[in-house]
Amino acid sequence: MKGILLAGGAGSRLYPLTLVASKQLQPVYDKPMVYYPLTTLIEGGVREICLISTPHDLPRFRQLLGDGSQWGLHIDYREQAKPEGIAQAFRIAASFIGSDPVSLILGDNIFYGGDVFTRAFSDFQGGATIFGYHVQDPERYGVVEFDADGRALSIEEKPKAPRSNYAVPGLYLYDNEIVGIARDLKPSPRGELEITDVNVEYLRRGQLRVHRLARGFAWLDAGTSTSLHEASAYVQTIEKRQGIKVGCPEEAAFHRGFLSLTELKQQVDRLPRCEYRTYLESVVVEAERSGH
Ligand code: G1P
Repeated sequence: MKGILLAGGAGSRLYPLTLVASKQLQPVYDKPMVYYPLTTLIEGGVREICLISTPHDLPRFRQLLGDGSQWGLHIDYREQAKPEGIAQAFRIAASFIGSDPVSLILGDNIFYGGDVFTRAFSDFQGGATIFGYHVQDPERYGVVEFDADGRALSIEEKPKAPRSNYAVPGLYLYDNEIVGIARDLKPSPRGELEITDVNVEYLRRGQLRVHRLARGFAWLDAGTSTSLHEASAYVQTIEKRQGIKVGCPEEAAFHRGFLSLTELKQQVDRLPRCEYRTYLESVVVEAERSGH
């Protein structure tokens, strides 16, 4: 399964923070925001990743993430010249996708907890897989209604009268049919190629699966200065209490077997003296102790 990381948008709700660095490059506690969704893809076993951003911001992402080989990945870059909706990503990345299945993650979605994603990636057999997360204010999101077997009954984008409290977070898994579906999509009344319209099409074909994200799972939004600050506070709380890091690509790549212990050590040796390095040194020590 390949992966698309969509990190576009003007980030106008974070002005003036986003004057010189895009939203997904802002710090969420101790790392750039994009590290979190990148780590989610790695945890799902995705090694080939296409990052899509604006022509203005793309060079910064290249500077930050490079070709991905430091994490055992392949990172490709593509421009989104004009933001015309999430589903536009599949048109932009069509040659990257080729004939493979593909996942898409939004660059400002931060997830933490459990292994439901990892299982969804490894159980994926075709069609589309999305997730449902219970929220207070479903009308702000794509809203899905589903039965006990995880079969979707309805899905609507920002409905005025939501049929459930389950919002659809920004991680989607599709088979290769997505390429044709995205190509044939028509813009919505707000002028965007809607990801929800993609999911409506899979629903029409009887191929839309929904995994419910359990109570303990965290899906954080970092799109306003307040929610950005809260996301940082959340990550800090977890990291301090548990002595682990959330959104650490080196560690995730090591655990997925994308990096050997020797490669991880080489990677750590290249880092400057900082908390991040100290943490990774402790990951190395623990792996050696457990005879990894
Ligand atoms: C987009 C999608 C929506 C989804 C949300 C997740 O909304 O259109 O279905 O629930 O991302 O973050 P937007 O960010 O465009 O408001």
